[in-house]
Amino acid sequence: MAENPVDDQLIEQLKKLQAKYDYMGQDLSSYLDGLLYSDYITYWDYIHVDTLLSLQNPKTSFPDEKVFIMYHQITELYFKLILLEIEQICFRNEIDEKFFLERLDRIIRYFKSLEGSFDVMVEGMEKEQFLKFRMALLPASGFQSAQYRLIEFGSTELINLVTEKERDVLKNADIPAMLEKIYWKSGATDLATGKKTLTLIQFENKYMNEFHAVANKHRERNLHQIFLKNFANATQKEKIIEKLREYDTYANVLWPLAHLKSAGRYLKKDPENVKATGGTNWHKYLPPRFQRRMFFPELWSEQEKSEWGLAAVKKNITNEITH
Ligand code: HEM
Repeated sequence: MAENPVDDQLIEQLKKLQAKYDYMGQDLSSYLDGLLYSDYITYWDYIHVDTLLSLQNPKTSFPDEKVFIMYHQITELYFKLILLEIEQICFRNEIDEKFFLERLDRIIRYFKSLEGSFDVMVEGMEKEQFLKFRMALLPASGFQSAQYRLIEFGSTELINLVTEKERDVLKNADIPAMLEKIYWKSGATDLATGKKTLTLIQFENKYMNEFHAVANKHRERNLHQIFLKNFANATQKEKIIEKLREYDTYANVLWPLAHLKSAGRYLKKDPENVKATGGTNWHKYLPPRFQRRMFFPELWSEQEKSEWGLAAVKKNITNEITH
């Protein structure tokens, strides 16, 4: 049988490969041997499907606990996608409007997916099962999601994450002083006794060093600073502002409200139910109108800030009625 002739294109490719390997002092022929013996790549190896599907290890035998675990895992993957974009925006050498807008769109799209899918939690588990398996998970809480906090550090200056009543006093303080008063600490501390919940103590022990480093890394390079330094006078300024406001709304109003609905469904009123949390007084802590946390404060009017989230909620209700 006649052998297939080696075509010109292949010879060209071999020459380029040889140049590439020569440049690094490597022997192309040995690498080609490696190619000869290596297996074809498969979907399951590349995506690590078996590993991924082995990561759901419930603590109880209630089937809905797996729904709870998997939806948290899905959310963490979306958080990772969001962080991937934040990193690229913040640490790009030259950034133009097109890139900034496109990447903001990606971030918004991810948050939108999370907000739109939160009913998997709100509606998608039996309350009776939830209240039982949740007790086996104490004191763990989504409160301890480090990526959620990393997204915040990458989005705005630390002072905007300081608990609201301390912001004036701390506006020129250093990073450790601000981190000491970050909003989520007050959410998990008993105001009367000053005692931290175990959920908070464990979270701080694991992540506080990393948070100091990350807050420092993003001090001058966060989404808000990138906007102020590069696009405050851009031709598409209005469009950029619109995107930043949309992001603020998803991250700090709509996702928190979707999340709050789940707390409302499973933990409301009955004092027995309320125990199934990481110990915060969540009625007072979680609602966006109490936290009044925003990444881009100067992009909101005084009225919008004082009734934080109301406009987004009204718009959502109108959309629900008209669609
Ligand atoms: C039925 C589902 C859920 C319920 C009932 C619930 C309940 C709560 C409660 C009560 C808190 C306050 C802290 C505490 O006392 O534990 C909290 C905080 C939090 N949860 Fe969830 N949660 C649910 C699902 C999720 C999911 C799927 C995520 C995704 C990672 C998540 C992420 C968070 C985050 C990031 C916080 C901190 C929020 C902040 O500091 O403003 N939760 N959750």
